[in-house]
Amino acid sequence: MGCVYMLEQRLVIEGGRRLEGEIAVQGAKNSVLPLLAATVLCKGKAVLYNCPRLTDADAAFRILDCLGCRCIREKSVISVNAEQMSNNQVPDSLMQDMRSSIVFLGAILGRCGRCRWSTPGGCDLGPRPIDYHLDALKKMGVAVENDSGFMSCTAPKGIQGAKISLPFPSVGATENIILAGVTAKGKTEIHNAAREPEVVDLSDFLNKCGAKIAGAGGSTIVIDGVDGLSGAEHTVIPDRIVTATYMSCAAITRGELLLTKTKHDDLSAVLPIFELMGCSVYTYDKDRIYINARKAMNSPGKIITHVHPGFPTDSQPLIMALTTVLPGTTIFEENIFECRFKHAPELVRLGAKINVRERIAVVEGVERLSGANVKATDLRGGAALVTAGLACDGITRISEISHIDRGYEAIEEVLRSVGARIRRS
Ligand code: UD1
Repeated sequence: MGCVYMLEQRLVIEGGRRLEGEIAVQGAKNSVLPLLAATVLCKGKAVLYNCPRLTDADAAFRILDCLGCRCIREKSVISVNAEQMSNNQVPDSLMQDMRSSIVFLGAILGRCGRCRWSTPGGCDLGPRPIDYHLDALKKMGVAVENDSGFMSCTAPKGIQGAKISLPFPSVGATENIILAGVTAKGKTEIHNAAREPEVVDLSDFLNKCGAKIAGAGGSTIVIDGVDGLSGAEHTVIPDRIVTATYMSCAAITRGELLLTKTKHDDLSAVLPIFELMGCSVYTYDKDRIYINARKAMNSPGKIITHVHPGFPTDSQPLIMALTTVLPGTTIFEENIFECRFKHAPELVRLGAKINVRERIAVVEGVERLSGANVKATDLRGGAALVTAGLACDGITRISEISHIDRGYEAIEEVLRSVGARIRRS
């Protein structure tokens, strides 16, 4: 019997082409996943517009399917009817496919009062504990039992509203508490809540469905439990990290791009960094950003990641790729995840000068990068390699691009449409 070799696809980039043109930004991955989870709570049809085509969104879609929800995707519109939901167990394989499937926990508990699922492991960014999620749910009357690698959660007396102070404003924990709290008995208060735009988007959708959530976007969120939710129609917010990615691609190729269907209000910590580096950035209407990087650029100095509204950790790898070719020294301080510099050694293969020590990375700008074989180590780290590859002399081949497909819809087609030479092979 012959052997069958499955060759994983790679992204192949011929660097040195200036990007020019217009890109319509996709819907936010980090919004669409909790929104899809939230549809489980609706006893009626929910319709989500602007859903990006991503492998992570496909995994969430499959989870809904396994739970017995009727889901239909037509282009960027996903309709979910959870009326006949029959199952409260997330299959192990799907849990492993997507770590953020943990956000289904609060929604399934809110709907069924019980949920069984396999414990998510660490991930590309280091250990990803879920203690804040579980401690909060326990306060809400949920009993958590660990039985041979599976977690069984039950709320025998129903989920109860509670006062919860998060030790850190975790995005996922805030979303899970909101999902469990909307149909809980009584009032739930979240103190030190995450303020990210995706938390606001989730609350907006749930309120359209009849939930009573106040304060999303601030540090205190108050939820008055309601008996049940109807369905609603909702448009997923634009992806702020994808916006930052294409801005970095424009800047590193000294090009100019108009980004449409974005939301500049959500990028208040990122846009000034591009200006500090010497790019001209103009914001129009509510949803357009024009960036021009024709003038001389320089290091922005120090970049410190924080929770929203601070500089987002997800944009750090992209700005790092850009600073590798800017005159001067740039210091990155990573405060959210432990292992968030895995892209640095890959950028070094392309000729970058980067020194990493624990949570600090120091980049000394070089004049040129040169193409090489590199591998995507995680989602945004992979996008950073694409950014760098666009500026390299010669050919860059990026392997393990399944990381990139988790969060970018047809990245090579988007970049080709504005002049890049990039293909999948
Ligand atoms: C979300 C985003 C991710 C982004 C991150 C921070 C999604 C699908 N992913 O991830 O892209 O980088 O927010 O903006 O929305 N922590 C604990 N215990 C917990 C939960 C979190 O110690 O129970 C720690 C984490 O290890 C991390 C920090 O808190 O160090 C922040 O994590 P969190 O905000 O929860 O990130 P995610 O929701 O996983």
